[in-house]
Amino acid sequence: MKDTLIIFDTTLRDGEQSPGASMTRDEKLRVARQLERMRVDVIEAGFAAASNGDFEAVRGIAETVRESTVCSLARANERDIERAGEAIRPAAMGRVHTFIATSPIHMEKKLRMSPDQVVEQAVKAIGWARKYTDDVEFSAEDAGRSEIDFLCRIFEAVIDAGARTINVPDTVGYNVPDQFANTIRTLLERVPNADKVVWSVHCHNDLGLAVSNSLAAVLAGARQVECTINGLGERAGNASLEEVVMAVRTRADVFPVTTGIDTTQIVPASKLVSQITGYPVQPNKAIVGANAFAHESGIHQDGVLKHRETYEIMRAEDVGWRANKLVLGKHSGRNAFRARLQELGVRIASEEHLNAAFARFKELADKKHEIFDEDLQALMSDESLTPEVEHFRLLSSRFHSETGETPQAALTLSVGGTEHQSQATGSGPVDAAFKAIESVARSGAELLLYSVNAITTGTDAQGEVTVRLALGGKVVNGQGSDTDIIVASVKAYLNGLNKLQGKADKLNPQVGP
Ligand code: KIV
Ligand code: ZN
Repeated sequence: MKDTLIIFDTTLRDGEQSPGASMTRDEKLRVARQLERMRVDVIEAGFAAASNGDFEAVRGIAETVRESTVCSLARANERDIERAGEAIRPAAMGRVHTFIATSPIHMEKKLRMSPDQVVEQAVKAIGWARKYTDDVEFSAEDAGRSEIDFLCRIFEAVIDAGARTINVPDTVGYNVPDQFANTIRTLLERVPNADKVVWSVHCHNDLGLAVSNSLAAVLAGARQVECTINGLGERAGNASLEEVVMAVRTRADVFPVTTGIDTTQIVPASKLVSQITGYPVQPNKAIVGANAFAHESGIHQDGVLKHRETYEIMRAEDVGWRANKLVLGKHSGRNAFRARLQELGVRIASEEHLNAAFARFKELADKKHEIFDEDLQALMSDESLTPEVEHFRLLSSRFHSETGETPQAALTLSVGGTEHQSQATGSGPVDAAFKAIESVARSGAELLLYSVNAITTGTDAQGEVTVRLALGGKVVNGQGSDTDIIVASVKAYLNGLNKLQGKADKLNPQVGP
């Protein structure tokens, strides 16, 4: 019998700390439902103390998810832990995850606390958390650069205080596999009460080693891996869930563990997270990249046709790739539409919401005869379905682009309910359109990123545009999709402006003490 490797997904917490990746409560619920469907063991639903919105999102997930443990992060202080404990109260299985930094540089420069004070605070934190649940996890932030003697000391103390999971984060992605495995092995040997807890790792990808370090730690005895869909996360991201899970499964001869993950839900989860956060997946990304199972060269194609395993170590369908499946068409009725959304785990907020979405679906079906799941996901992500929350909205557009002529855009926008006309020229129609928007909005936002992806195949596919905008220290990703990519670009820019308007300040757990 192999041990179980606990898959702890932190897409909704660490993943959400990626610039511009913040999600609304509803978006987080959609991701959480998909994670539950994929049978993730633990969902880190957020950092409840960050803002009221984050608290509500964690609580909403705790109320909804039944099959996975729902966890909230908390710094090692009483208020954070109280917020986390209250937020997870409705969960069928709830966890509080508390942390404090343990490396010399973090203790001295960030926390301004002595090692003794850090141990004392950590032990108190476990006591506060246990008032809410027995399932308490402790993380030593920046363990990857902490002294091993100090780690042994603090871990022994928090285990005695009642922590059930001990997490060893390589917070800054500094470790290399052998060294990290050695740290885990040493901790398992030297911490006297090590056998009372599950050992966990949480690796960042600054040197591109997050997955390798996590897997090396598993070989050394770790039995929980913290990871994210598409490897989303602070800076270069976290270990990618799909890579960890498929490595363990594909190399069952090497790893003494199995996971409970339904791997066929991996690609749908990847697409959903990418669509909601606006972080596209690079085509050559392992497992979930568009080319991960595409055999371009003639030799490979020939080999795969003769015998698939000549070049394939995994089957595309095992991770959820399937040919674009026609799901609905222009004659599909409202009930079929509703049923498919329910199957996709999309919550329909109200009958008005359904009606608006159905009208949009019909418009799309007129332009594009075959509607796929990916089109429906994009359609449901479109915030213009709830116009009351939109300050900026596109009413109509006209673009002109001709060889030898300067491209022009003419837009009619609704700004706070009032109609505005604007026109501009630019180096291309997208540039002209963004200038036309700015001539009305005057936001002064800086455009950090612009990207276009086709949602499905075919020249009638919808283009999905992501723009990343920065203003006054806030960064947001705006998205828009349409069969016309200039219109998709306008929608994405307006979506970004709307998000900047509504973006509340929230605390990053790793910035303050
Ligand atoms: O990277 C890190 O150290 C973290 C902890 C809060 C677990 O995200
Ligand atoms: Zn992290």
